Amino acid sequence: MCGIVGMIGQGQTKAMILKGLETLEYRGYDSAGIALHTGRAVDVYREKGRIADLKKHIPTDADAHLGIGHTRWATHGRPSQRNSHPHQSSNGRLTLVHNGVIENEKQLRQEYLHDSIFASDTDTEVIVQLLAQLVEKHGDLPTAIIALQQLLHGSYALAIIDREQPDVLYAVKNKSPLLIGKGEEANYLGSDALAMIDKTKNFYELNDGEYAILTAEAVEIFDREGKKIIRETFEAQIDANDLAKGPFKHYMMKEMNEQPAVIRRIIQAYINDQNETLIDQQILTTLRNAKRIFILAAGTSYHAGLVGKQYIETMAQIPTEVHLASEFVYNMPFIPEGSCFIFISQSGETADSRAALVAIRELGFEALTITNVPGSTLSREANYTLLLHAGPEIAVASTKAYTAQLTVLALTAAAIRNYDLDLKFELARVATAMDHICEMHEQFEMLAQNYFSHGQHAFYIGRHLDYFVALEAALKLKEISYIHTEGFAAGELKHGTIALIEEGTPVVGLIAQAKVANHTRSNLQEVAARGAHTATIVCESLAQAGDTVIIDDVHELFTPLVMVLPVQFLAYYAAYIRDCDIDKPRNLAKSVTVE
Ligand code: AGP
Repeated sequence: MCGIVGMIGQGQTKAMILKGLETLEYRGYDSAGIALHTGRAVDVYREKGRIADLKKHIPTDADAHLGIGHTRWATHGRPSQRNSHPHQSSNGRLTLVHNGVIENEKQLRQEYLHDSIFASDTDTEVIVQLLAQLVEKHGDLPTAIIALQQLLHGSYALAIIDREQPDVLYAVKNKSPLLIGKGEEANYLGSDALAMIDKTKNFYELNDGEYAILTAEAVEIFDREGKKIIRETFEAQIDANDLAKGPFKHYMMKEMNEQPAVIRRIIQAYINDQNETLIDQQILTTLRNAKRIFILAAGTSYHAGLVGKQYIETMAQIPTEVHLASEFVYNMPFIPEGSCFIFISQSGETADSRAALVAIRELGFEALTITNVPGSTLSREANYTLLLHAGPEIAVASTKAYTAQLTVLALTAAAIRNYDLDLKFELARVATAMDHICEMHEQFEMLAQNYFSHGQHAFYIGRHLDYFVALEAALKLKEISYIHTEGFAAGELKHGTIALIEEGTPVVGLIAQAKVANHTRSNLQEVAARGAHTATIVCESLAQAGDTVIIDDVHELFTPLVMVLPVQFLAYYAAYIRDCDIDKPRNLAKSVTVE
């Protein structure tokens, strides 16, 4: 989604903002812009395309002590220079950037701005024009912000510059992510900590409806009625080298290779020397007493939830349902009294998941969020949080977060009723198996060349846990190589979809579950008989002559944690061969903060 960066105070404002925007590129965008308050005027530079394109339009000597920047992922109005942020009020006094969606923008245009001349098709320009009108009416910007929030419906993170206040930066937050960074001689704001991490590690959270007034020396936070709030900063557990790609060409390759280390980090974080799992007893009691558990998520996190259901029902014997968050809110199933919810979200900012969280909290149910981002919206608004400790995941395609989610779900499920399994041993075995798979990357590059260098269709098939990995495998391949790929229950193909199999259609069978291995093999023969170009990814104990990829055995419950690595590498190399933008695939955003 959109990225926002702002700075006020001593320092290289332009450089800081542009660098901050570059760290947010992974969120996905189609245009970028920056505004600099030079003391006399507010200069705005904005272009469709990449930040590198924007830089060519900014005079090298341009700088200031106050600035805001933005990367836009189009919602209202096509990607274009005129729709790029920052946007200014007609009187030129206010300049702002926005992340989110204003749901009542048409009504606001009709009711308050029918005489205004708009320079863009965006909902953001409605905000800045309306705010300028409110400043005229109320006389000062803080009061106007309070009035503005009473009119806006929807999600917004705003950074605002007032031409008449060259020493003040304003921030407003509702549903979209926005953090304030506390510096020495300057203060900052950004869509996430990464954008400011090489300036500060100390941040203020902003809650929905709050606004902040930043000067070089101070940060003041107010609630939606204008009442001042005293809040402590928190220290972000990120270090700047987390941002570097290291020896890898892409963040995705770096993050795939980090997975063994992440598993070992989670073991350390969650299991003590006495082999006890360190999960808050309140969380375990809530889950243990639940009549039914609902897991809600989107995308890859949803696929992790499907495996998580198996873990909870196998290790804790609690009935569990998994739902797409975007469907759940508008098609709510029967939820028995005594149910509780688990939200899985790498970013902790997914709007679909957040909307579902708001809905179930209003119904009085308790929620646990499993996320990679401490202080994220889904973390703050749930009753409990379990962290993934995966380190920042920059590539849009989620890899290490997925395996981290499975690991934390397994630890939680086992801890609910002290399932008799040596998790430290079994997960360490998983990490070792992952190490071996990461060493096989040249084989995966060759396979990708053989199966995915051409053609526009592919299938992954599997049964039971292998089916859930097939869904994730398909998402990985399609979202970065743009090959239309389906993850399919192997036994279901013959009920219709097998009609799509043609000569040469790649079909990869995942075989790691002993009780269904032979069934999947016969399903592969069915498609091979119709011309499919088949391959198998198999755990060693189930391997047969002619199998394509053989990986180390691990506990049968944990095979998804290792089976997913080959399919991640295959997706990576398929995209590499096709010269796709691996870390920032077209149309995609790392954190989808609109419904
Ligand atoms: C997965 O590779 C995608 N990036 C996407 O499906 C992602 O998993 C989904 O948008 C959910 O994001 P979250 O985990 O941050 O909530």
